Amino acid sequence: MKDHLIIFDTTLRDGEQSPGASMTKEEKVRIAKQLEKMRVDVIEAGFPAASDGDFESVQAVAKVIKDSTVCGLARAVEHDIVKAGQAIAPANSGRIHTFIATSPIHMEMKLRMTPDQVVERAVWAVKRARDFTDNVEFSPEDAGRSELDFLCRVIEAAIDAGATTINIPDTVGYNVPDQFGYLFKQLLERIPNADKAIFSAHCHNDLGLAVANSIAAVTNGARQVECTINGLGERAGNTALEELVMAVRTRQDYFSVDTRIHTPEILTASRLVSNITGFSVQPNKAIVGANAFAHESGIHQDGVLKHRETYEIMRAEDVGWSTNKMVLGKHSGRNAFKTRLQELGVEFETEQQLNDTFVRFKELADRKHEIYDEDLQALVTEANIER
Ligand code: KIV
Ligand code: ZN
Repeated sequence: MKDHLIIFDTTLRDGEQSPGASMTKEEKVRIAKQLEKMRVDVIEAGFPAASDGDFESVQAVAKVIKDSTVCGLARAVEHDIVKAGQAIAPANSGRIHTFIATSPIHMEMKLRMTPDQVVERAVWAVKRARDFTDNVEFSPEDAGRSELDFLCRVIEAAIDAGATTINIPDTVGYNVPDQFGYLFKQLLERIPNADKAIFSAHCHNDLGLAVANSIAAVTNGARQVECTINGLGERAGNTALEELVMAVRTRQDYFSVDTRIHTPEILTASRLVSNITGFSVQPNKAIVGANAFAHESGIHQDGVLKHRETYEIMRAEDVGWSTNKMVLGKHSGRNAFKTRLQELGVEFETEQQLNDTFVRFKELADRKHEIYDEDLQALVTEANIER
């Protein structure tokens, strides 16, 4: 029996913090409904104290979403916690996520607080959040650059104060997988009341390691991962939900956990977020990029036509594509060429005709990046005229 890995989606909060990715209330509600359809466990809908608009967005999401927990972010201050509590009040299941920084540089240069004051404030914030809901998440911000002993101290105190989820943010994307995984191992071993809370990973992608770091956290005991659709988020973004979920689903032989995500809804979610934010998805993006299930080289096409698993580790259909794709270009071989023509209803009378047309196709492919069905039709028509 696998452990349940909780998927906490923060597209509407950390994702929205991506410069230029602001969303209206209506847009947030549309995305939240798609996340619910995808069976995301927790939707972080925004930062209610940030603006009246964000307060209203979180409240609107809390009103319409029934099957996912709706979460609001709050700094460890009275105003933020009250706003978050009010915004999530209509939810079937609501959570407050409160945070305070614990790294030396953040405490000294940003908060101008001593470590003792930070612990005291964290405890106060968790208790205050518990006045609104018994589902409280606490994050020691910049945990990835915090001192281990201090991290253990503040987390133990937050759990005693009533935090039910402890989220470990690598706020600036500084960690590498072995180190981040080891951090979870240490925290779970050293904090005496660690079994009273779910430990969560929240990674940023500054070094391109957000998914790898999240996976290292999971293999070392994390049971919640925070992520965003298309990896949207501050600076280089957050852990990409689609990548994390499909890594876990595809490698069930390796993981002792699984998520509840209904993966055929992934592509719709990706396109919705891309259309709403105007952030396009790069073609070679794993899972949701246009080329993620496309084959151009002749050797690969031939293999896939014989058996899909020769070059495919998951099925395009399982993440929402209608099928995989054979792209005809200069690397393509005769098998893919012939198969596509057959699909277009073209049969050659002789092998020689096929060979001649294939030669012309290669000449054309040298001049053009991608050969479309219309190009193939034109090649066949030309060949018929000359015969
Ligand atoms: O990256 C971060 O530290 C955050 C916190 C608010 C959890 O987004
Ligand atoms: Zn973050």
